[in-house]
Amino acid sequence: MSKQKNIYRRDFLKLAGLGAGALALNSALASCQKIAAVPTALLPAALPTSTPVKGVDGLVELNIRAAKSEIQILDGEKTRVWQFQSELIQGDAGALTPIPNSYLAPVVRIRQGQTFRARLTNELDQKTIIHWHGMKIPEAMDGHPRLVIAPGKTYDYEFKVINRAGTYWFHPHPHMMTGGQVYNGMAGLFIVHDESESALGLPDGDFDVPLVIQDRIFDANNQFSYTGDSMTGFLGDKILVNGAPDFKLKVATRPYRLRLLNGSNARIYKLAWSDDSPFTVIGTDGGLLEKPIQRDFIMLAPAQRIELWVDFSGRKVGEEIVLKSQPFVAGFETGMMGGLSTQGAPFDILTVSVEEESTRRSDLPSVLSSPNFYQPQDAARTRTIQLNMQMMTGTLNGRTFVMDEVANDEKVNLDDLEIWEFANIGRSGVGMMGGGGMMSQPHPMHMHAVQFKIIERVVDNPQMAVGYDEVRNGFVDDGWMDTVLTWPGERVRVLVKFEHYAGLYLYHCHNLEHEDGGMMRNFEILA
Ligand code: C2O
Ligand code: CU
Ligand code: CU
Repeated sequence: MSKQKNIYRRDFLKLAGLGAGALALNSALASCQKIAAVPTALLPAALPTSTPVKGVDGLVELNIRAAKSEIQILDGEKTRVWQFQSELIQGDAGALTPIPNSYLAPVVRIRQGQTFRARLTNELDQKTIIHWHGMKIPEAMDGHPRLVIAPGKTYDYEFKVINRAGTYWFHPHPHMMTGGQVYNGMAGLFIVHDESESALGLPDGDFDVPLVIQDRIFDANNQFSYTGDSMTGFLGDKILVNGAPDFKLKVATRPYRLRLLNGSNARIYKLAWSDDSPFTVIGTDGGLLEKPIQRDFIMLAPAQRIELWVDFSGRKVGEEIVLKSQPFVAGFETGMMGGLSTQGAPFDILTVSVEEESTRRSDLPSVLSSPNFYQPQDAARTRTIQLNMQMMTGTLNGRTFVMDEVANDEKVNLDDLEIWEFANIGRSGVGMMGGGGMMSQPHPMHMHAVQFKIIERVVDNPQMAVGYDEVRNGFVDDGWMDTVLTWPGERVRVLVKFEHYAGLYLYHCHNLEHEDGGMMRNFEILA
């Protein structure tokens, strides 16, 4: 009990801005190159437009510099950021699209079957490496922390895109520094197209809109303040979409495809429209669903993507609709803490403003794709991974990350189909872990190298499952996923096939402060 009090106190101190338990702020932010002046007035939140990428064969080649810059985000002083600054060396028009006035990397668009090549140059003053989140690629391309490069060095990537069409992304993956580097701005979208997707005639070009949702805390000088602790992870009090505050999406009265990425370090969103319109979900992490589905609200955990088909053709010019994150209780009692810097705090995410008439109508196809899921009864075995918070560190079966270590129970065979069960039920430890409290945390569990199918959620420890009834109907478990939100008290079973490449990969909690704290392990696919 006294420990629990301490933890609450710690969190209170953090909220009070006294910084107890705060992670070291990246002092490297202090030195920063000057860039050309941009108007001091807030620029309109411009959108990256997309030109469909042509040609199945061929190459997309980039130079990517991991470098420091500064961006006008708020009125007044610019914000120092770290970014992936990409340049197209070879590839179709539309393969690389900058997001104007954003710290986010230009959007990469590539077709299944094409080869992706990139040279990363590290111009930061700390180690880094890029991970291509959700992509099925050889281990040397996967951005494991053991592959980090020192300042001034380069890393060459080259892989064939075998993933189905979908909204993938990339971010740094150096051990214990991923949270800080992503927070400073390093992330980008990696969108894959394929032929069966193109044949559907979904909205494209300006009507296929990527939306990256992140939370930040700005200090008095408009600088990013990184004050996450290892228990809840970083939780900001200001929402940015595509790097901009108070984001406005200007639309015409016609259908749109919206691709949402939760690019936040630790914040989970409970997305809903302000007028209670239901969502039509067409895709998840690993691409299009078999059929569109409806949800009144959607839980979107860090690293997850959701694709929506939204038809504004019934709307009137001048109308505004707000995409919100509704309040929820995240497995433990937040009442006494309150404030925006808590998990489950309510936010406005963006405002859709209907600005233009359009006569363009199109029907949403009733069948979107053939996901070709495997069958649970064909699984060779089930492995259980116990998720726990022990002291201030998350563990996987009681272990934390060791750079080259793979336990015997973390070795799988190439081409085996398995059930992995993530058990967020707090039983393997001692003390208060069985009873919930601050020790019970939602964990968005991610696996590299694969896309899996969520086959079952079982509430096995109802005492721990605080707030479950308010979130459960927002889980979208129908598609291919690489990240699954496990709620406190739940066992979540996923069906996963280890195919294509043998090698050393990672599985971890995608709460980046949990990950950096060691809630990550290697698994090895044996040839
Ligand atoms: Cu986006 Cu290892 O993760
Ligand atoms: Cu990943
Ligand atoms: Cu976690």
